[in-house]
Amino acid sequence: MSSALLSSGGAFNDALTARQGQTPIDMAELRRYRQGSGAPAATLESVTRQARRLTLHWSDGRTGQFPMMWLRDHCACDQCRHPLTRERLYKLLDDPLWERFDGDDALASFEFDANALTLTWQDGHVSRFDAGWLYQRCPGQELATLLPTPTPWPTHFTPSHVSHADFVDGSDGRSRWANALLRDGLVMLDQGPCELEEVSRIAESIGPMRSTNFGGRFDVRSVPNPNNAAYTAIGLELHTDLPNWRQPPDIQLLYCLENDAEGGESSFADGFAAAETLRAENPEAFRVLSETPIDFRFQDDGHDIAVREPVIDLDGEGRPREIRFNNWIRDTLSLPSDQIEAWYDAYRALWQILRRPEGRVELTLEPGQMVAFDNRRVLHGRNAFDPNTGKRHLQGTYLDLDMLQSHLRVLSR
Ligand SMILES: [Fe+2]
Repeated sequence: MSSALLSSGGAFNDALTARQGQTPIDMAELRRYRQGSGAPAATLESVTRQARRLTLHWSDGRTGQFPMMWLRDHCACDQCRHPLTRERLYKLLDDPLWERFDGDDALASFEFDANALTLTWQDGHVSRFDAGWLYQRCPGQELATLLPTPTPWPTHFTPSHVSHADFVDGSDGRSRWANALLRDGLVMLDQGPCELEEVSRIAESIGPMRSTNFGGRFDVRSVPNPNNAAYTAIGLELHTDLPNWRQPPDIQLLYCLENDAEGGESSFADGFAAAETLRAENPEAFRVLSETPIDFRFQDDGHDIAVREPVIDLDGEGRPREIRFNNWIRDTLSLPSDQIEAWYDAYRALWQILRRPEGRVELTLEPGQMVAFDNRRVLHGRNAFDPNTGKRHLQGTYLDLDMLQSHLRVLSR
């Protein structure tokens, strides 16, 4: 392993091991994994060999069975992982030794100490593993996600607030903000500057803005000849944005620059919580909305963007994964006639739940305040405003959830 490779790994992991006077093993991994680095590692106590696998025992009692195939595939040397990109170079299909992993003779020898396992394969290749890395990735143990679990809102939910100053000047405010957003699907950022494009600067400190047919960054205010309800002064019923896309935007940021007009109060509701309430109160309505794809569509002079998906999308375990609810870009209801009444009944039942005051967050955005929410989970709306009484101007953009999750994982290094 070259010194260039050693220095390419996680600085924290390397520095820690150097302090302890051990030979660092770079696992081509930036997440903390070494014992004492903040990773929940224990030292390696024993290693026993069986046919086709090694059994490892750690000091805290954890035991792991590691198939030889898995160990060979995860070798992190600079022939098997690119020393700069950390991406896998090893190709199991091209390994002449691979067929021998099913027998008992692919491994020539092994040795270990408290912090490392070294394997020498029959072809002479040597694989070295950090014991903390193996502990983290022990087969059958779930690797901690570093991300909060989305939690449905209780009734009368109050969102978390983070100040703009805390967000900008340190990782603590940022991670509180990102954690709340991933957990609750909604978080407030307070007391920011009333500057055009601040929403873009915030977004781009996390990831590229997600562009749509409304551009990368959009202005919410009343305009002449609007092509979307958001660009009028009318009230907007609770909705998700762009359910007419195969992949609607994940995270929406709405930054308030001016809000003097009468009206225009914002409201939000947790679509996942509403779906669970529907499931409990009216299982048939829940079944209809989760099993019946319907059409969503946006059309203007240059676009016709349409998709057919259910209102409630479930994951493989039956939990709500996405809500598509936007009454003004719901297209013609194209269903067999004997399903139409049942679908409308189900849709009304969900809509009634969404309108319940105890499930909604109502607030008036202040200039310099930004709300961020998971557009595929949390619905948003606003009351009508009177553009003759003052100005109302929000700037918004979207972010991919992947970028937000990535941001939080990087902050946790
Ligand atoms: Fe919207």
